[in-house]
Amino acid sequence: MRERVTADPFAFDPFSSPCCRVALLGFGTVGSAVARRLTTLDSDRAPAIRLTHVLDRRAEEKRRHTPLAGVAWTTEIADVLQSDADVVVEAIGGVDPAVEWIRAALAAGKSVVTANKQAIARHGAPLLALAARQGRQLRFEAAVGGAIPIVRAIGDGLAGDRITRIDAILNATTNAVLSLVEETGCSIDCAVRAAQALGYAEADPSADLDGDDARAKLAILCALAFGLRVDPSQIPAQSTASIDGADIARARARGAAIRQIAHADFDRATSTLTAWVAPIEVPRESIFGRATGPQNAAIVAGEHSGETGIFGVGAGGDATAVAILSDIAAIARDKAAVVPAPVLDSAFHIPHSSFQIPVAEAV
Ligand SMILES: NC(=O)c1ccc[n+]([C@@H]2O[C@H](COP(=O)([O-])OP(=O)(O)OC[C@H]3O[C@@H](n4cnc5c(N)ncnc54)[C@H](OP(=O)(O)O)[C@@H]3O)[C@@H](O)[C@H]2O)c1
Repeated sequence: MRERVTADPFAFDPFSSPCCRVALLGFGTVGSAVARRLTTLDSDRAPAIRLTHVLDRRAEEKRRHTPLAGVAWTTEIADVLQSDADVVVEAIGGVDPAVEWIRAALAAGKSVVTANKQAIARHGAPLLALAARQGRQLRFEAAVGGAIPIVRAIGDGLAGDRITRIDAILNATTNAVLSLVEETGCSIDCAVRAAQALGYAEADPSADLDGDDARAKLAILCALAFGLRVDPSQIPAQSTASIDGADIARARARGAAIRQIAHADFDRATSTLTAWVAPIEVPRESIFGRATGPQNAAIVAGEHSGETGIFGVGAGGDATAVAILSDIAAIARDKAAVVPAPVLDSAFHIPHSSFQIPVAEAV
C-alpha cells in the first residue's frame, strides 16, 4: 500500500490523477488573476491542473500584453467547446452571453466554475439540473463573498443543520465606501471616487450601493440555506447612496457603525421568508462593525449549531481567484462526481407583508 501525505491541495499524484485541463472565459480582473495562479502552480511536479485556453473579446491584445506559455487564445466560444478542456471557468460577468456559454459548456460535457452571481441567482436551477444530467459539476463559490467560503459553508459545512437566519455584508465595494466615509469624514461621492481609484468600485457603482449586487448574492444564499428560489428583484433594498457623514457620526457616537447588511430569515412554520438589503447600524465591535475596506462577513444561524461566523476579503482579483481555484481543485479531485445540487426547484414568492427594513429607525 502506498500512502501520500501532502499539504498542497494542487499536488495530485500524477500516477493516479489525470491532468485537469482548464479553459478560461474572460481575461479581466478575476480571469487574469486565475490565469496567473494556474500558470504558476507547482512546476516541479507533473502539473495536475493546467490552463489550456483563454477566451476574451480582446484576445490578441491581451495575449501580446500577457503571454502565457502553452495557452491557446481565442475570441470564439466554439474553440473552447470543441477543445479537450475538462473545466470551463466563466469570468466574463453579466447574463448574456455568460449564461448561454455556461449552458453550452455543460452540454459539451465540461464542468463549469463561475464567479457570476447574476447568472446563478437568475438561472442557477436549470443550469444545476443540466450539470446533474450531464454528470458534470457547476460550482460557484466565487459568486458570493469573494474569498470567504460561504457557499460551501452553507451548502456543505452546515448541511446537517436547519438554517434559520443569515445576516451578511456581501458587497465589498459598498463596505469600502462606507469605511472611507467613516475614516475620512468625506461624502459618499468622494469615497466612491477614492474607491474607484483603489480598484474597489466600478465606473458605475449603483448596482453595489443600491443593493442589486447584494440582492443577487442573498438570493443564492436563500436557495442554499432554505431551499427557496427567490427572484432577486423581489428582495427589497434601500440604497446606501443617501448615507452621509452626519449619519455615520451619529452612529459612531452611539458606539455603532453603518454597514450594508443583507438579511434573510425563514419561518418554516408559516413558510414566510423575510429578506432585505439595507444600510443599518451595527455595533462597532461586532463582526460587521469590524469589517472594513473590501471585507465581507456573515453570521449564519442554525437550529442546532447556533451562530457561525465567516469573515474575510470579499472582492479583488487575487481573493476571488482563491475561490475559483478551490472549485477547480474540488472538480479535479473527483471529476466523475456530480455536485449535490442545492434545492432550487420551487419558485417562492416573498409575501409583501414579510418585508422588514429597519433602516429608517436605525440610521
Ligand atoms: N472583480 C471582483 O472583485 C469580483 C469578485 C467576485 C466576483 N466577481 C465576478 O467575476 C466576474 C468577472 O468580473 P471582473 O471584475 O473580472 O470583470 P472584468 O474585469 O470586466 O472582466 C471581464 C472580462 O471578460 C471580457 N468579456 C466581457 N464580455 C465578453 C464577451 N461577450 N466576450 C468575450 N469577452 C468578454 C472583458 O473584456 P474587456 O476587457 O474588453 O471588457 C474582460 O476581459 C463577474 O461575474 C463578477 O461579478 C468579480
